[in-house]
Amino acid sequence: MAVAEPLNIAIAGFGTVGQAVARILVAEHAERLRLTHVCNRRIAEKRVDWLPATVAWTERFEDVLASDVDVVVELIGGLDPAETWVRRALDARKSVVTANKQLIARHFAPLVRLARERGVQIGFEASVAGGIPVVQALRQGLAGDHLFRVSGILNGTCNYILTRMEADALPFEDALAEAQAKGFAEADPTDDVDGLDARAKLAILARVAFGYGVDPAAIVARSIRPIQAIDLLYARKLHRVIRQVSRLERANEEDHAEVLAFVQPALVPIGSSLANVQGSQNIVAATGRFGGETTFAGFGAGGNPTAVAVVSDLLAIAGGSVPIADDAEGEDVLAITGDAVARHYVRFTVKDRPGIIASLATAFCRHGINIDAVLQEPGLPKTRLPFVITLEECSASVLRRALGEIAALEFHLEAPLALPILD
Ligand SMILES: NC(=O)c1ccc[n+]([C@@H]2O[C@H](COP(=O)([O-])OP(=O)(O)OC[C@H]3O[C@@H](n4cnc5c(N)ncnc54)[C@H](OP(=O)(O)O)[C@@H]3O)[C@@H](O)[C@H]2O)c1
Repeated sequence: MAVAEPLNIAIAGFGTVGQAVARILVAEHAERLRLTHVCNRRIAEKRVDWLPATVAWTERFEDVLASDVDVVVELIGGLDPAETWVRRALDARKSVVTANKQLIARHFAPLVRLARERGVQIGFEASVAGGIPVVQALRQGLAGDHLFRVSGILNGTCNYILTRMEADALPFEDALAEAQAKGFAEADPTDDVDGLDARAKLAILARVAFGYGVDPAAIVARSIRPIQAIDLLYARKLHRVIRQVSRLERANEEDHAEVLAFVQPALVPIGSSLANVQGSQNIVAATGRFGGETTFAGFGAGGNPTAVAVVSDLLAIAGGSVPIADDAEGEDVLAITGDAVARHYVRFTVKDRPGIIASLATAFCRHGINIDAVLQEPGLPKTRLPFVITLEECSASVLRRALGEIAALEFHLEAPLALPILD
């Protein structure tokens, strides 16, 4: 049922996304969505002259709660005070739209319950894959299917770094510095490059695609920091590229089945949908029992693309359609494993001497792992030689045990790097 218009909107957090939302509201939707409040700390530094004079500027969230605002747009980020502000807004019967992945990944079920109890809405389209409308697409567009796998590239910073390393054989640090200079990476890139940002998004996708929660902290998240330019060269020899892949997969057809979930750098075939994602773009590929694979790609971050997702949620609320699906608030949490069975790429960096391959083969054999091939670029220095062994299918846990043993051998100059080879 459509809501009486216009809706009064408060933006809490007037930063990159908050300002982009304000611009779109004023330029495109002033008749249906009326921006009445902007709330931010140090508000004097935030004031702009391009918003209507009727907008109230405040540092006190209480002013927003006490007002006739219908929807609070939470764009301050982080958990504290964002969680409190969102709870208080819902409690005061104000709908909430948020781009906050950490908040939604951890507190989805109680927030949705509170929203329902108070008869208001909570929209979180912008919390996953920025401007790609994947929440609505999975919940509504693919509601007719039985989804069993969701794969994606959910972090544009990692993708920018990996594609730049690949294009110009850059070291990780140089590609990261370039990403920071161009605004694709934060000054502290930890959450992005170490997979923490992507695993929060993956937890939200589990909710959206499978209808159940997963604990984001339980999702295996591996960093792209150990990737070197030589890995991208060896990957190419295997007709593959390296991407930071996020994946969810039901173990079987049962709704409550354990879910394989990971965020990690992996080799993917050249020409595949994941390999084709360049620069800071994102992709989500959903696979269902009936419809096969459907992909959604575009800008996963950035002020304007993210603001589009926020404004779309606002329009959905104004139009009376429910941003969250009716069956999405279940409090059940699915068990997770990160123990994927896959072929693997393992790069060793050694001081060369005869017998190294023989010792590695013996160790892999002891763990029942078959070697597929050995790759060594000609002309590399023997005093610091990176070479690769590809392995036939084995589980990540068996490989970890084998590599634990192998790491104790004396010829390593660096810890071996193991990456799954995905098809
Ligand atoms: N930027 C993107 O591309 C993107 C993409 C997808 C999702 N998101 C999400 O969108 C949200 C906002 O991101 P953003 O990039 O717009 O961040 P941002 O540029 O840092 O903006 C955050 C704003 O909130 C204000 N703020 C932070 N903590 C506050 C507090 N305790 N009290 C009052 N004001 C506070 C900040 O004020 P100060 O300026 O004083 O610090 C700033 O104006 C986050 O949840 C983020 O994860 C962002």
